[in-house]
Amino acid sequence: MEDAVIEPEIIAPQEMLRTFEGINVAAPLVRYSKLPFRHLVSLYDVHITHVPMTLAAEFSRSLQARHSDFTTTREERGAFWLTERNKGPRRRVRGALVMQFAANDPKVFADAAQLIHPHVDGIDLNLGCPQRWAYSEKIGCWLLRQPDHVRDLVRAAKDRLGWNYPISVKIRVDPELERTERLVQTAIHAGVSHVTVHGRTRHQPSSDPVSLPSIRFAVEAAKGEVPIVANGDAWSTREAEQIRTITGAQGVMSARGLLANPALFSGYEQTPSSAVEHFVRLSTDYGMLFPLFHRHLAYMLESRFSRSEKLLFNSLASHASVVDHLESRGFQFM
Ligand SMILES: Cc1cc2nc3c(=O)[nH]c(=O)nc-3n(C[C@H](O)[C@H](O)[C@H](O)COP(=O)(O)O)c2cc1C
Repeated sequence: MEDAVIEPEIIAPQEMLRTFEGINVAAPLVRYSKLPFRHLVSLYDVHITHVPMTLAAEFSRSLQARHSDFTTTREERGAFWLTERNKGPRRRVRGALVMQFAANDPKVFADAAQLIHPHVDGIDLNLGCPQRWAYSEKIGCWLLRQPDHVRDLVRAAKDRLGWNYPISVKIRVDPELERTERLVQTAIHAGVSHVTVHGRTRHQPSSDPVSLPSIRFAVEAAKGEVPIVANGDAWSTREAEQIRTITGAQGVMSARGLLANPALFSGYEQTPSSAVEHFVRLSTDYGMLFPLFHRHLAYMLESRFSRSEKLLFNSLASHASVVDHLESRGFQFM
């Protein structure tokens, strides 16, 4: 009843991070963080979601790329009762949606930002993609050691959209931490609204444990001037709280943890049946290609299936056969 009558406030992502306790963030995930999945996690205490990394040049050039890369709805961001820091009052706040671009050319980044900005709550610049093709295109983690170029990119977007529009960056830590400090400080002086710090270097695979001390170092390098989101190895509510405590970051972002359990920030140890049921409904309503639908469910159900059940599930080849199979296991979709 309380929820129905109080219109949620619309607050910029950095203000959410600065003002409220326990802000949870869903990572940008190429291929995966599309509308049905973003809507799903917003049902389970994810306050800020991201569109997957999109090449700014393609996005500005092609209407078709814009349609395939980005769709949204009014409902996907969710509404939450959030508590102000230091036991302040609870307020009802709408979730935030952030677009992520990869770019090298400041004008191209500003062009793409201008096209998308009325439809999202902020724009993030990817400085962490470690893939070889990205490095050779001088995007993603190539930019980690080019703070002056990052400054030009951020300023181009700020100049185009106005100083108040949120532009953030998502970085990886550098093995030479003083470079991380310089990057964070340069980005802040260029006007970024917040910084997400993935606590692995560009050479580290995701199987390496994340370095929380390196994220803490970045939090200290920001000197409280902008909020920091800590990213890496948040697989449960307990781990997310440990990350918050150890790093001092204002938000915690999860990527693979949410793929495996979209309800992890709501305190579930493994994907609850309700999340599977919501996902099937949302992906049917919004539309999702079968291979992606199937892959998401395989991730979500992995911890609940035995080896033979996994093999059987992986062999299913149509939406209808997946739904029938899940119904036979007790899931309810009506
Ligand atoms: C399938 C997949 C796709 C990803 N796509 C992106 C992306 O589009 N943009 C980005 O900044 N990071 C991307 N990442 C990196 C994650 O956002 C995150 O930084 C990384 O997985 C570490 O977080 P985790 O330990 O919670 O998984 C991707 C990771 C995975 C596994």
